[in-house]
Amino acid sequence: MENEKKIIKIGLIGLGTVGSGVYKTLQNSEFVKVTKIAVKNINKPRNIEGLDRSILTDDPYEVVNSDADIVVELIGGVNPAFDLIKTAIENGKHIVTANKELLAKRGEEIFNFAEKHNKVILYEAAIAGGIPIIMPIKTILAGNKITRIEAILNGTTNYILTKMDADGASYADVLKEAQELGYAETDPTGDVEGFDAAYKITTLATLAFKQRIKLENVYREGITKVRAEDMKAANELGYKIKLIASAYLDENNYADVRVHPMLVSKKSTLAHIDYVTNAVSLEGHPVGSITLSGPGAGEFPTASSVVGDILAIVAELGKTDYLLPMMRCNHHDTAKTIDISDTSNKYYLSLNAKNKLGVIGNIGKICEGNNISLASIMQRGVSDNNTADITVITELCKEKDMQNAISQFKTSEYVNNVNSLIRVQI
Ligand code: HSE
Repeated sequence: MENEKKIIKIGLIGLGTVGSGVYKTLQNSEFVKVTKIAVKNINKPRNIEGLDRSILTDDPYEVVNSDADIVVELIGGVNPAFDLIKTAIENGKHIVTANKELLAKRGEEIFNFAEKHNKVILYEAAIAGGIPIIMPIKTILAGNKITRIEAILNGTTNYILTKMDADGASYADVLKEAQELGYAETDPTGDVEGFDAAYKITTLATLAFKQRIKLENVYREGITKVRAEDMKAANELGYKIKLIASAYLDENNYADVRVHPMLVSKKSTLAHIDYVTNAVSLEGHPVGSITLSGPGAGEFPTASSVVGDILAIVAELGKTDYLLPMMRCNHHDTAKTIDISDTSNKYYLSLNAKNKLGVIGNIGKICEGNNISLASIMQRGVSDNNTADITVITELCKEKDMQNAISQFKTSEYVNNVNSLIRVQI
């Protein structure tokens, strides 16, 4: 028949939340058909109407060795995903993946391997779930020099911080509630200690700066030490506290890539990104500043990104020998990076001090001795145990100087405890 369409075959590895969303979205496609699916437990009941159980296997190698044209990897983690993807590429398949950990840890190897075999690896779903950010950076923003990214890339931590802020509740209480509601994992370490966001910003910064960022050069600090009192004080000072994944490129092309809690001005867009929503703000020339926000996880939002990647490949399969040239990821230069200890920041500092003559003077003296200029200092009375919480916001100062000041506060006869040190958005 004239104009007969070739149906493109898709092999899925993983049929969890995202895999199910992908399967359901593709069910009625006229261009593609899911022909093989690897699952952990073949007998598990699945809430997918019309699921063809005959294509299920518990051996993911059956997918990568099948006649699929595109393999979609949705199991996460480095192993066995790394070997499965390599095997699939050797077998002539293009790859779509949502695996942020694999990309951050072994991205260079698998992208080079794919290039050698003239195959593409697309990964829109790996960063900020349903928000289209990877394709836009590769295509319509390609003419930009991107120099700054600030993003909320983890829904679990954003949910916890939003709830702490709304309810005045402690981190531990909100985490427990989030776990009961299924918003946080039983072992929440990957999210709350910032690993997940660090994987995502590593890949995002590599793409944006067109130079490879190594995960080990990304500074990472989670949200477990943020206190309800910090939320309250930040609010009074005109800020919200968010876990921000950031990447800055200086005029000498040095990259400063980090994940840590940050006080963001209530006037900024990121301050209004609440609960599980994600957002990416970036600055580039000539575009200026843009922010994209939306669902960073979930069955259908993430499936939207996976299916978009699949269809981008499908659109060019069989029409060219070198498909999707703008969407390939072959950055061979490793970025020069700045260590956090060599950066300058503004800080929010909370100290618990003795109710003693000269306390504020002592704090001021330690700051002055370390070249730290104060933007504001706040004390709200004295508590029953005759101590006072003192909150300080600094001007821009060196991280090394601040760490030195912290050591001095810890040994000061006026200070009982350094409650918190959180960087402030500049
Ligand atoms: N664990 C991630 C989050 C979702 O909490 O945002 C998937 O990347």
